[in-house]
Amino acid sequence: MKQNSMEAVDYELQKQSDGSQLALVFMQNPPVNALSKAVRIGLIANIKQALADESVKAIVISSKQSLFSGGADISEFASGDFEPPLPAVLDLIENAAKPIIAVLNGPAFGGGLEVALACHYRVTFAANKVGLPEVNLGILPGAGGTQRLPRLAGVAQALDMIVSGRPVAASKLSGVFDLVVADPAQLFSESLTFCQKVVAEGAVVRRTCDITIDASTAHAELFAQFRLSIAKQARGFFAPERCIQAVEASVALPFVQGLQREGELFLECMQSKEARAQQHFFFAERAASHVKDYDKTTPVRDIQKVGIIGAGTMGGGIAMNFANAGLPVTVLELKQEALDKGLALIRRNYESSAKKGKLTAAQVEQRMALLQGTTDYANLADVDLVIEAVFEKMEVKHEVFKTLDKVCKPGAILASNTSTLDLNEIASATKRPQDVIGMHFFSPANVMKLLEVVKGEHSSPEVIKTVMQLAKKINKVAVLVGVCFGFVGNRMIESYGREANRLMLEGVKPEQLDQVIYDFGLPMGPFTMGDMAGQDIGYFVRQSRQEFIQHDPSYCILADKLVEQGRVGLKAGKGVYLYAQGSRTPIPDPEVLELAKQEAQRLGIKQREISDQEMLERIIFPLINEGALILEEGIAAKSSDIDVIYVYGYGFPVYRGGPMQYADEIGLKTIYDAMCKYRDELGEYGQHWFQPAPLLKKLAAQGKRFADL
Ligand code: 3HC
Ligand code: NAI
Repeated sequence: MKQNSMEAVDYELQKQSDGSQLALVFMQNPPVNALSKAVRIGLIANIKQALADESVKAIVISSKQSLFSGGADISEFASGDFEPPLPAVLDLIENAAKPIIAVLNGPAFGGGLEVALACHYRVTFAANKVGLPEVNLGILPGAGGTQRLPRLAGVAQALDMIVSGRPVAASKLSGVFDLVVADPAQLFSESLTFCQKVVAEGAVVRRTCDITIDASTAHAELFAQFRLSIAKQARGFFAPERCIQAVEASVALPFVQGLQREGELFLECMQSKEARAQQHFFFAERAASHVKDYDKTTPVRDIQKVGIIGAGTMGGGIAMNFANAGLPVTVLELKQEALDKGLALIRRNYESSAKKGKLTAAQVEQRMALLQGTTDYANLADVDLVIEAVFEKMEVKHEVFKTLDKVCKPGAILASNTSTLDLNEIASATKRPQDVIGMHFFSPANVMKLLEVVKGEHSSPEVIKTVMQLAKKINKVAVLVGVCFGFVGNRMIESYGREANRLMLEGVKPEQLDQVIYDFGLPMGPFTMGDMAGQDIGYFVRQSRQEFIQHDPSYCILADKLVEQGRVGLKAGKGVYLYAQGSRTPIPDPEVLELAKQEAQRLGIKQREISDQEMLERIIFPLINEGALILEEGIAAKSSDIDVIYVYGYGFPVYRGGPMQYADEIGLKTIYDAMCKYRDELGEYGQHWFQPAPLLKKLAAQGKRFADL
């Protein structure tokens, strides 16, 4: 980002037919025209210059970048240096004696839109997107957005935009724009005509702050209803309630006091741990694409055609991602029957989206037309990328990769969706291990945003770069990880399931623990999740890893016994919980508690009352500890990558920023001490499973954070 205010804002004068001048002020701060210190200084200087120039009759604020502005410069937040404050820039704009017209040549978000709201007139094109996404950063629009938007757009519309953070097309937003042109190419010429008209009509300065909100359109009931409507998705977040209060202030208070109230609420949000976490996550998500394995000079392969092996749960969802992005996909199964079943399921998924109004019937057909089924490997000869999603068995994967090596053209990328198997061993089935890579999608693959890109020992930088970039095209957030059992996400989740089972043996009721984890912010607790996914999935993984667990006779013993009794979860109507026919509501089952009691007795484990805090620590801290081991081993390159995996792959609450940010927030010493405490208190079990990772120990002793690495 540029530091020089002269470079950050451009100033041009344009002579009008009546001899007067129009001042054009362009923000110039790539990549997103953030309102950095330099831009704020530049805006003040240029607006003052235009106001002082008698020949200037009106001022335009716009940009020559693709965005009007992405808002305040978030990277400056940590510095605490807000001088000159954005509200002061807007004050200068709103109180200027000459009309200032915002010409939104591209998206305007946050402070960017707030600049426009403070101008006296606004012009844009119909498809342009504007929004106040501050809530996603754990804050609220702090430069008058909560006071000006309700005045222009009405309270209901403003409330929705500010609390959801969702961008809106200009054509859908009433009350904000004075002119919305259909064709973006005509925006500047039509804006100039508009400015001339404003000048010709007396250069009237129309201040947003002078608009009075009709309180009858914003009664208490509206706010009460709104609070109810967002309660579920706002659970645990700090900012949404403050956003609502700020909009309430726009109705209840005169403009200046409203601004003051907005300022107080903004500060409260800014100082919250939720804001720290959400801002951390904003940068974590973007940082995931900054990897050291390639650089700008690394070539990227062109991916035009994709092959998928296996049309099961994962193969079908993966195929949909590519069809959604307009890429033709060939799906291969060994038997026609399995192929038909897989393709029919994809169609049903699309049709169900169409029923919900998310797709048109024509779009369903377009996407289905991109999907070809085959049982013949010869049809994969010309694909640029093939993703294998067959049974999780090394022999089967080997067979598939051997065949792919024979049939696929040179340079085709051969990817596996394996969730646990050794990618290097899979690659060894081919004569081109440099072209083999892991693409670990999460279920449902057409919905979940996360993609773990697994680099094998020989995966080439070119292949890694191609897949990382392709992820964006199919609307995924890719995180690059190394090879180990379960990679990052599933390796860490192992301790989560193990500890949940152990806690039940020690006397915790499943619904108690599930409530603690739900209250922490995950969508559901481990037992509900296990029942929903199917308890048999973990069972089969454990069966193949007996060597890993043989030293601990209590290891997931309850889960194993339940599966052996046919209690595999929701699909069987019983798992850890019982389920009434057709219902997904878990019902606690005393039989399960009795089983836990018997097993505890058999294993010599004393059942006791366990506090919520202990439950939380024993579930979350070992997961963080595993994250530390993963960092030490270089399986993840940075702690923020683990956070991205956990938020997008496992529903870890974004207002906690991910497990590693959560650990940094509460302090690594706290985690280290608790790990030592449980190691010492839980006998042999503790000795085995609660050994703090050396990296955790080191950072805790140095008073450092994972983010400092
Ligand atoms: N401040 C600082 N840096 C920003 C930024 C911002 N507002 N917005 C984006 N960036 C950076 C990103 O970190 C990224 O950096 P990198 O290349 O080093 O990783 C780079 O700009 C490009 O960002 P994206 O990859 O996200 O680019 P896209 O083109 O995909 O998306 C965007 C552009 C839609 C503007 C998206 O970046 C975005 O949503 N930005 C945040 C918008 C926002 O939340 N604005 C409100 C800011 S808070 C505010 O205005 C407070 C005010 O009310 C007082
Ligand atoms: P699935 O059993 O639903 O589908 C596998 C499909 O592959 C079946 O349709 C089967 O007929 C087909 N198949 C088997 N052998 C084949 C062969 N030799 N050639 C062509 N097709 C063949 O399994 P699922 O769940 O889709 O898993 C597939 C892979 O994805 C596994 O490696 C699994 O570990 C991984 N995975 C699964 C996730 C999940 O949640 N189900 C999540 C992430 C990865």
